[in-house]
Amino acid sequence: MKSVVSLKGACLKFGQRTLWEDLDLDIRPGEFFAVLGPNGSGKTSFLKVLLGLQKLHSGEAALGGRPVERGSSLIGYIPQQKSFAPDTPMRARDLVALGVDGHRWGIRLSSARTSRQVDQLLELVGASDYANVPVGQLSGGEQQRLRVAQALATDPQVLLCDEPLLSLDLHHQQAVSALISKQSREHNSAVVFVTHEINPIIEYVDRVLYLAGGRFRVGAPDEVMTTEVLSDLYGSHVEVIRANGRIVVVGLPDATTHHHHAEADTMAGEVA
Ligand SMILES: Nc1ncnc2c1ncn2[C@@H]1O[C@H](COP(=O)(O)OP(=O)(O)OP(=O)(O)O)[C@@H](O)[C@H]1O
Ligand SMILES: [Mg+2]
Repeated sequence: MKSVVSLKGACLKFGQRTLWEDLDLDIRPGEFFAVLGPNGSGKTSFLKVLLGLQKLHSGEAALGGRPVERGSSLIGYIPQQKSFAPDTPMRARDLVALGVDGHRWGIRLSSARTSRQVDQLLELVGASDYANVPVGQLSGGEQQRLRVAQALATDPQVLLCDEPLLSLDLHHQQAVSALISKQSREHNSAVVFVTHEINPIIEYVDRVLYLAGGRFRVGAPDEVMTTEVLSDLYGSHVEVIRANGRIVVVGLPDATTHHHHAEADTMAGEVA
């Protein structure tokens, strides 16, 4: 089994604070891999390592058998949501078009083929109705659906998604989850999906990486999402309840009470 994402003995620290260490992980093509954990547990940082934007403290990270590097064409990325400035001089379809042809030779081709592809992608995320609206005028959820379309446009081998369902209504949460899962099944793309809520994607997830308190667990949802495992990770009793195929975690400690060494938290780990 060839893996498309591989971490060996990976450790990420900021100052004195360890986010995770001794992480050995292989993600295979077509795998739907979820990353869960409380605020500040290192989920976004995990994606940044794969994007080549964040250096490991120790260990190795590889993509497609080669050390990670910035700007890899293997990757599609849906960043954690930030909104566009109201006066951004771009229409919805321009943003998606950047995904379709923006990475090739650095020039934009406004061919009929590109245009058709953009129309299809807009249709897939339910954005056809606002294709020609300036992106800065769209709601958070409408902007978010365009980011999904843009990331899918490159037909990536690895799709990195940072809380892509945030600010989507239930209908669009389901539509976007299904779309991302379809990409992984039909194009054999590995999906790394950061989320606070496993339920919207529970039917698609192959494995979970759960980060908390400087430690982690990896495994099938049934292995990781248990009262025993999560209580151990959080260092206090939490209760995992299953009902109608959904998973509810009760009694989570305040996510902001992690051990924080403010004076030691520097920007040292960030690649300039
Ligand atoms: N370059 C950096 N230098 C110092 N500390 C950093 C740096 N990047 C992230 N951190 C810290 O590392 C921790 C993990 O950040 P990260 O963004 O990965 O969390 P997260 O799990 O994505 O949280 P959230 O659920 O809030 O998005 C945070 O406490 C953050 O302040
Ligand atoms: Mg984050």
